[in-house]
Amino acid sequence: MLAFFFIIGLSFLLMAGTLMNMLGNYLFDMRIRADRAGLEKWAVQAADSLGSMDARGIDEVVRKAGAELGSRVLLLDSDGKVQSDSYQQAMGRRLHYPEVVSILVSGQTADYGIHSVKPDNPATRMPLLSFLPSDEWAGYATAGVVQSSHVIGVLLMISSVGEMMQSLMTLQNNMVLLFAGVALAAVLAGMIFSQVLARPISDMTGVIQSMAKGDLGVRAKVRGSGEVRQLALAFNTMSDQLESLNQTRNQFVSNASHELKTPLATMKIMIESLIYQPEMDAGLRTEFLSDVNQEIDRLSSLVSDLLTLVHADSHSTRLNRERMSLAGIVKDTQHRLAMIAEQNEQTITLQLADSCDMYADKAKLQQVVYNLMENAVKYTPVKGWIKVSLQRVGRDAVLTVSDSGPGIPRDSLPHVFDRFYRVDKARGRDSGGTGLGLSIVQQYVNLHGGTARVSSEDGQGAVFTVTLPLNKG
Ligand SMILES: Nc1ncnc2c1ncn2[C@@H]1O[C@H](COP(=O)(O)OP(=O)(O)OP(=O)(O)O)[C@@H](O)[C@H]1O
Ligand SMILES: [Mg+2]
Repeated sequence: MLAFFFIIGLSFLLMAGTLMNMLGNYLFDMRIRADRAGLEKWAVQAADSLGSMDARGIDEVVRKAGAELGSRVLLLDSDGKVQSDSYQQAMGRRLHYPEVVSILVSGQTADYGIHSVKPDNPATRMPLLSFLPSDEWAGYATAGVVQSSHVIGVLLMISSVGEMMQSLMTLQNNMVLLFAGVALAAVLAGMIFSQVLARPISDMTGVIQSMAKGDLGVRAKVRGSGEVRQLALAFNTMSDQLESLNQTRNQFVSNASHELKTPLATMKIMIESLIYQPEMDAGLRTEFLSDVNQEIDRLSSLVSDLLTLVHADSHSTRLNRERMSLAGIVKDTQHRLAMIAEQNEQTITLQLADSCDMYADKAKLQQVVYNLMENAVKYTPVKGWIKVSLQRVGRDAVLTVSDSGPGIPRDSLPHVFDRFYRVDKARGRDSGGTGLGLSIVQQYVNLHGGTARVSSEDGQGAVFTVTLPLNKG
């Protein structure tokens, strides 16, 4: 606000000052020109009378000039002594006014000056003559009286400039009033303006503060137009994301705790039976222990999956890229799953159109391919088939894993990549799933700049498609 007023005030003062100056100069210029023209004509006429020291002639010229010019006219000789005064008052006095001196001593032909003729003006060192006794200001115009190129005297004209000074003063006063008015208007406008501008921002500060205190549900009011509106919209979008992030986190923690608790509870029951039934049959005991062992495996794979996801979440994850072949990974994975597939009497067919050599994180892509193919094997019933195809499309490698299993219901399709999501909760846990496999697939594929999608006609198998940019490095 202060800076605003300072700038407005300064520019106004500058403008007013310049204007006043220009106007004053213009008025004076006009006046000087008019005075000088009239005076010079009479100086020529006075030359003869003054040259011949014709007292009557001198008086005559001075009187006529005074009457015609409407001013007080004095004729001075070359010593600056008054020879004639149209007011008949100052005869014989020597006048050393600067305008007289400049003609007699400095050789100027004409001069002009304005003097304050207030009787009580302390700056007045010599008695100044005036046109009217009531005048405060008088204009002194002089012209040299020349005979045969010698300056023999000075014709001095004294006139009122009060009117002109008065109008300049009035103008100045008006300017001051105008300035005060403009300043007041600027203060008011500034206050209103800053109110209008600052209110949404201070509102938003309040919203941010309550959000900082933990209330993620608050939203900024969207109003007005332009930047403030944009700010409110951006803030609300951010708040939405923050809120949903917070929800996801809470859900994740509660899901994770639930998943961890289940195997622990099972293990507790089995171990308690072992403790309280010391005479248990050796075969049954071994079975119990191997069940506990299985639960431990489940727990440890769950924990490592969780760690994997948390790592991929924090954006610090770096890809350890190396030269590798995606087709090679698919073959290795088929090899790893061959035994289970054989047990289920399933056939795994590979259609590898391209070796898809790329510069990528091998361990992570191994996990991607394994999770997809393991799902296909796991969810496809006995005697089913699994097809894996790999081809190059433009600059991308496209991997498709399809199976003859039950497929995924339409309303579950958007969720299969969510953490802990399982279509059939009971079925999933029986087969050891926790619902993290596909989330990991998506995280890793996204890290490589690719996409993972699913499509399925209910009852006709599932088709997972992964697209990865062929980054040759
Ligand atoms: N090929 C498939 N056919 C049918 N349903 C599938 C298939 N792949 C995934 N699903 C469904 O999607 C769900 C999520 O799969 P995801 O791999 O994320 O978890 P999971 O296999 O249950 O557990 P895990 O974390 O051990 O992989 C599965 O529980 C299953 O219901
Ligand atoms: Mg899985």
